Amino acid sequence: MSEETLSNLSREDRSFEPPADLAASANVTAEAYDRAAADRDGFWAEAAERLDWSQKWDRVLDWDDPPFAKWFVGGKLNAAHNCVDRHVEAGNGDKVAIHWVGEPADDKRTITYSDLKDEVCRAANALLSLGVQAGDRVAIYMPMIPETVVAMLACARIGAPHTVVFGGFSSDALASRLVDCEAKVVITSDGGYRRGAASGLKPAVDEARAKAAGEGFDVEHVLVVRRTGQDLGENGWDDGVDVWWHDVVDSASAEHEAEAFDAEHPLYVMYTSGTTGKPKGILHTTGGYLVGTSYTHNAVFDLKPETDVYWCTADVGWVTGHSYMVYGPLANGATQVMYEGTPDAPHKGRWWEIIQDYKVTIFYTAPTAIRTFMKQGREIPDGFDLSSLRLLGSVGESINPEAYMWYREVIGGDRCPIVDTWWQTETGQIMISPLPGVTAGKPGSAMTPMPGVEADVVNDDGESVPNGSGGYLVLKQPWPAMLRTLWGDDERFKDTYWSRFKKQGFYFAGDGAKKDDDGDIWLLGRVDDVMNVSGHRLSTTEIESALVSHPKVAEAAVVGAADETTGQAVCAFVILRDSAGDGGEDIVEELRRHVQKEIGAIAKPRQIMVVPELPKTRSGKIMRRLLKDIAEHREVGDVTTLADSTVMDLISKKEGSAAGDEA
Ligand code: PRX
Repeated sequence: MSEETLSNLSREDRSFEPPADLAASANVTAEAYDRAAADRDGFWAEAAERLDWSQKWDRVLDWDDPPFAKWFVGGKLNAAHNCVDRHVEAGNGDKVAIHWVGEPADDKRTITYSDLKDEVCRAANALLSLGVQAGDRVAIYMPMIPETVVAMLACARIGAPHTVVFGGFSSDALASRLVDCEAKVVITSDGGYRRGAASGLKPAVDEARAKAAGEGFDVEHVLVVRRTGQDLGENGWDDGVDVWWHDVVDSASAEHEAEAFDAEHPLYVMYTSGTTGKPKGILHTTGGYLVGTSYTHNAVFDLKPETDVYWCTADVGWVTGHSYMVYGPLANGATQVMYEGTPDAPHKGRWWEIIQDYKVTIFYTAPTAIRTFMKQGREIPDGFDLSSLRLLGSVGESINPEAYMWYREVIGGDRCPIVDTWWQTETGQIMISPLPGVTAGKPGSAMTPMPGVEADVVNDDGESVPNGSGGYLVLKQPWPAMLRTLWGDDERFKDTYWSRFKKQGFYFAGDGAKKDDDGDIWLLGRVDDVMNVSGHRLSTTEIESALVSHPKVAEAAVVGAADETTGQAVCAFVILRDSAGDGGEDIVEELRRHVQKEIGAIAKPRQIMVVPELPKTRSGKIMRRLLKDIAEHREVGDVTTLADSTVMDLISKKEGSAAGDEA
């Protein structure tokens, strides 16, 4: 983030008090901060009482061997029972759990908690019949259909940790995850709908399975939901491995006794980008995760399960979908909307139409989406009745003040508070956010650590900075939904998060932040080689590795350049191998496609520049800062530490002649 933006941020002086009616009936009041400050473990124990435990814990937190935490030690529970069965047992079986809205017009389903229970039990029985046992990993590679939620809960029910891989990831990305967590079964669908067209998913699973087999790992079964009815082709079905969902799930019994698992039993692994090429498998466990997500969902969104209709627009393939579409809301007995398609299909007002049709009251989305709508103009949302809305949420990156004001005025009718929620795949739960009945919202600030969460901004030495200063965001005390480790890599877990402020024992989030004069927190973006593109995390190194794996590329450097809509955009600089000559006319498009194939469409560079050299220090480190200057069309900064300071002239000249590379 540029200095200019930074100072603009700190000049922001608007603030919006909570609406009086919301404040008067809020689920959580200011007293929660005091309660948590006086006795943090006691506070989280109270939050845990909101769930059904088969066996109560002996100890709230075991932090004897940091950074390896154990929460609710000795407690036992079943996550699926907590998200589904207990609501049915409490007499709410007829309550709608999910209003599912498909992309093709009129493709809708209404799923009550009873329906969900039956489906989850059937799927659990089907997984058992395929040989899945507690502890086995199951990969889920699916579109946004109800079966995806059913599959996750069925895994949780039988204690098989799931790893959901975003359906937009390539077969290569899927293969590396299958191998890393040794997934026994993959659950997928023949395909999904996107902007009116059916696109295949099963073929990517076949490719991934073949790649995994090449690395010596065999997936035992692939369970396939029929969604689009696409022709799978002559070689698209392997009788020894592939099983149709409707063959084994529909005929399975709807009776299944949920077994209680240890609070620390693994619930899921979610892969996310880090600073090196290899994605990290973030491990979340059962008890603490469910406590953290259900507490924060109730507090931040002020959910009134009897009357609210909640909608989180995230894809279930990301952590937001896990914590605030599946586990948090379902544990709280929410009625929610789940939408399969994109915001602009079949028309640009689709989301607003859904809010109108289902009378959505709580809406949670990402700044990148809001900025896209801003560009399209307010006439589109103005054409729909959005008066049911009472609370708006934002996640994924800082919401810039302009987008905040537009969201507040145009979507929220100037009456809905906005909760800007900061958290990460690793934190599992929202960590910094206004409480809607307590905290006045400032456009662009995530405001205050949640009750029970100790977040701070520190300097290089780990000392808390005074108000009005910036530094690194840290978490000073463990929290229930925290990651427990990286799958199979305790050392990398320690190095990545706990070594930067080892002396103090702080968790290093990788984000820069600032405290304003009131002590409220403003997030300033990543301080490492992680980019944030449309609220999705991408690693510069991972994309560089993908580029270098192309036979024509000798070297590559990737930077995240500021982008009006997506926050940041991927910009790549490549040096071609001598043998590749000038690479050919379509080299840029060829490389963009290659990155898409290796990682997925979200990682496709916006711009690729073929350059003769890269700027390096004398010790050979690429100076990405200078490349960023070029990508953001700024004057190139200080080049004195470059081994060869003329390199930047060469690259700048290329830049001048490369307009048109932008996609
Ligand atoms: O840089 C922060 C940014 O997203 C990162 C976490 O990305 P991921 O694990 O993919 O999770 C995204 C959804 C929780 C953070 O390190 N980030 C997320 N929310 C915000 C944010 N930055 C500023 N403000 C936010 N509200």
